[in-house]
Amino acid sequence: MSRALPSPLIDYFRQSRVALAMADAEGDNHLVLVNAPFCALTGYTPDDVVGRNCRMLQRDAPNIEPRARLREFLDRPTQPNVRTPIVNFRKDGTPFVNLLYMSRLKSIDGQTRYIFASQFDVSRSQPDMLADYDAQLTSTLGRLVPIAGEAGIVVEGTLLTIANSAAIVAQAKMMLADLDSAPDA
Ligand SMILES: Cc1cc2nc3c(=O)[nH]c(=O)nc-3n(C[C@H](O)[C@H](O)[C@H](O)COP(=O)(O)O)c2cc1C
Repeated sequence: MSRALPSPLIDYFRQSRVALAMADAEGDNHLVLVNAPFCALTGYTPDDVVGRNCRMLQRDAPNIEPRARLREFLDRPTQPNVRTPIVNFRKDGTPFVNLLYMSRLKSIDGQTRYIFASQFDVSRSQPDMLADYDAQLTSTLGRLVPIAGEAGIVVEGTLLTIANSAAIVAQAKMMLADLDSAPDA
């Protein structure tokens, strides 16, 4: 599940109730750590995904705009975080709209060491569930700061909280419905 990662970070991943994933900042951002809620959400085991880029969850969905937003974040080290809905597929092929959050974990000298991410199925959710997830992710990120700090890692970027959960959930349900009604779906 991990390669020479600081053990407090591994414990933190194990204890978190929200889906979390972490990737190497170098190269093609291969996943180094995923937790049980990530596996429950996607249907993949750590062995299926660690060492691979998480874009595998997109299969052949075009996702033009969300991918451009994610790429912009990855290509701009000064941008602290990004949050976007993106069409993903579980291992069994079921589509869902993933509300993906990504931020950076940096070493003291400012180099990005890892990309940190959290996933949430916003297409099979209700606005109050999204608000709950936001609150949980906020406290999860808050807990990460001292744990990462012990390992000499600085957490960049606080959560971009959702101002209008109902609008995001409605938009995600429409994205999913459009996908279901696509000619070759
Ligand atoms: C730690 C981490 C977790 C990610 N999780 C997801 C995810 O759950 N779903 C997804 O579609 N993309 C995810 N991504 C984004 C893709 O891996 C990739 O960065 C994105 O598709 C943009 O790059 P590309 O245009 O080269 O594919 C994640 C990236 C990182 C670094």
